[in-house]
Amino acid sequence: MTESVNEKKYLAGKFALVTGSSRGIGRGIALKLAEKGVKVAVNYLKDEAAANDTLAKIKELGSDGFIVQADVCNPKDIERMVSEVRDKFGKLDIFVSNALGNLLGFMSPPLQVSLQQWEEACRAQSSAFLVGVQQAAGLLSDKGRILAISYWPGSHAGGFLPYFAMGTNKAAVEAMCRYFAVALAPRGITVNAVCAGITDDSIVNSLPKEAQDAMLSWLKEGWNPMKRPGTPADIGGAIATLCTEDAGWITGQTIIADGGASLMNPEVPLFFQLP
Ligand SMILES: NC(=O)c1ccc[n+]([C@@H]2O[C@H](COP(=O)([O-])OP(=O)(O)OC[C@H]3O[C@@H](n4cnc5c(N)ncnc54)[C@H](OP(=O)(O)O)[C@@H]3O)[C@@H](O)[C@H]2O)c1
Repeated sequence: MTESVNEKKYLAGKFALVTGSSRGIGRGIALKLAEKGVKVAVNYLKDEAAANDTLAKIKELGSDGFIVQADVCNPKDIERMVSEVRDKFGKLDIFVSNALGNLLGFMSPPLQVSLQQWEEACRAQSSAFLVGVQQAAGLLSDKGRILAISYWPGSHAGGFLPYFAMGTNKAAVEAMCRYFAVALAPRGITVNAVCAGITDDSIVNSLPKEAQDAMLSWLKEGWNPMKRPGTPADIGGAIATLCTEDAGWITGQTIIADGGASLMNPEVPLFFQLP
């Protein structure tokens, strides 16, 4: 109880920019931060109504913020977005690089993916993170926080072939976190990647219903030992925790927030693995 009061006190009045926070995991992050009293710049690409809905929910939680349209694939848009944050907030304490990009457009196996699809994935992920951090760093307060959202099986395994362009870019983003962590350590700014597991109320819900049902029943069978998918609030909780004062010594890490899914062993039948 005392801990959470202290945590709220530390985070209250801070300023965050969360890319792609109109919907899905980004919205979960924005709302969790707002719950702690953080003011949030809600970035979106096209869905202004969803962005306004996130902002309304932020206000219901007693915090505030504004919406900012920007395509993270376009460096000039990122520059404008950060400059809007400077104009409206005057400072920044937390930068979360979460926006998805057109994932379904660049889903293609490694031997078939076109150079165009590959470059689109780079623009949405590794380039967006590079430019985002370079732009945000000047505005970030000392002891600020930078976080990137990743996906552990995509960045560390190779089994889901159509995820090739995204997965390899997520691996690049995780590596960039380590380099940025060293570069920004003198200012006490931490830089970490948080790997979400399969999350409900996200891009997953845009897949054909049969695919969604198959994925969810797979997790519920026990391939996620908590027997459920994650929620945007679960990921928001992991991010908010890394934004606390006590997390100031954790930097350059890739942290998995997946309810334990990545602990399961694909070589051994589930029967032998479940408690
Ligand atoms: N869903 C999962 O299970 C899962 C698992 C691991 C990691 N992740 C990662 O979590 C992040 C969020 O994914 P999600 O599933 O929450 O996606 P989502 O529900 O489809 O939401 C995507 C968000 O990104 C915004 N966006 C898309 N392209 C953009 C661009 N070019 N510039 C700015 N904003 C853009 C969208 O804005 P509009 O509303 O305007 O379209 C929306 O706010 C991604 O980095 C993804 O790789 C997801």
